[in-house]
Amino acid sequence: MSKKIVLAYSGGLDTSVAIRWLMDRGYDVVCYMGDVGQGQDTENSRKRALDIGASKCEVGDLREKFIKDYAFQTLKTGALYQNKYNLATALSRPIIASAMIAFAKQEKAVAVAHGCTGKGNDQVRFEVTFALMAPELKIIAPVREWELKTRSAEVDYAKKHKIPIEQTKKKLYSIDRNLWGISVEGGSLEDPWCEPAVDTYVSINTPEKAPEKPEYVKITFDKGIPKALNGKEYGAVELVEKLNKIGLKHGVGRVDMVEDRLVGIKSREIYEAPASEILYASHFALEELVLDRDVRGFKQFIAVRYSELIYNGLWFTPLRQALDTFVDKTQENVNGEVKVKLYKGKAMVCGRRSPNSRYKMQLATYGEGDVFDQSLAKGFIDLWALPFKK
Ligand code: ARG
Repeated sequence: MSKKIVLAYSGGLDTSVAIRWLMDRGYDVVCYMGDVGQGQDTENSRKRALDIGASKCEVGDLREKFIKDYAFQTLKTGALYQNKYNLATALSRPIIASAMIAFAKQEKAVAVAHGCTGKGNDQVRFEVTFALMAPELKIIAPVREWELKTRSAEVDYAKKHKIPIEQTKKKLYSIDRNLWGISVEGGSLEDPWCEPAVDTYVSINTPEKAPEKPEYVKITFDKGIPKALNGKEYGAVELVEKLNKIGLKHGVGRVDMVEDRLVGIKSREIYEAPASEILYASHFALEELVLDRDVRGFKQFIAVRYSELIYNGLWFTPLRQALDTFVDKTQENVNGEVKVKLYKGKAMVCGRRSPNSRYKMQLATYGEGDVFDQSLAKGFIDLWALPFKK
């Protein structure tokens, strides 16, 4: 009996070729597809894997867990890598990798494989998770190891081995997609000066095509978790789907950035994440209202560190878990509603309210009913400056 390997299968060219390549190296290949909302025809891809020669192809619906335990947890933290990227791709790797490990144990596999190249972050995220959860499994990264250095070499290999692949119109960009966001890289985007062409808009409208009329959405949070849209409660996946749809119409959630990869390369990336953009803006706005100054300030440091942990593949580590405990404590009062205006590529917060608000009108007002004792200010400032006086 040949030894079993679990391959993270996407349905694309790389991992389709990888099935055959691993079979040629004596493996019984079983595929695993983790559905995090790629929006693809998984049944079609599953059939293709079996046609190529995989002995099994398991599809796992990870969407609910992905949004609840990964995306919303990160939202509560406020983490954005290098202040911009919501980590959609980065968050999907540890959840897929951990589901693969569970499947590998069930299948009594001796190895796991993924289709990442040797230049990116994703290989790190997969392999760190494998190593932490199942150090006994051998890890193979075909795309990093094989001799097929170009796309056309891969297409030739596929033809030679009669591997059914999708119509190989030359792919202009490398796209990774899930419910929480879409990452686009490569092609003309590799020149950081080059304005992203219209064809880099994968899901959302360009601002030019967005409606001339603004649209308002109202988000309700319970302990920092988005629970309702326009007053109606939804499950996590449905809420994100609905908000993506509204946001993309208005061209909201595009990010154009140059980021620093863990492997030391700078790369130019485009992200599309309409729901996430609206939720981050509203969550920040609610925290402004309910958190005290110290917690707010300290939490910002946590967010930076947390984003680096996720980006660098360290989701399943003690520091991330400890930070979650801190962040969850800070979210106890993050309850309330935020109004957001969507217009021509922007999500603008225009109102917030909370039963736990720390905003005191009697203290803030310059009008009638002011209770702030201005006579205290002089003494306060004297003492405040005291330690620094010569
Ligand atoms: N640079 C992003 C990250 O490391 C996205 C990578 C997306 N991958 C892709 N095949 N387009 O998280």
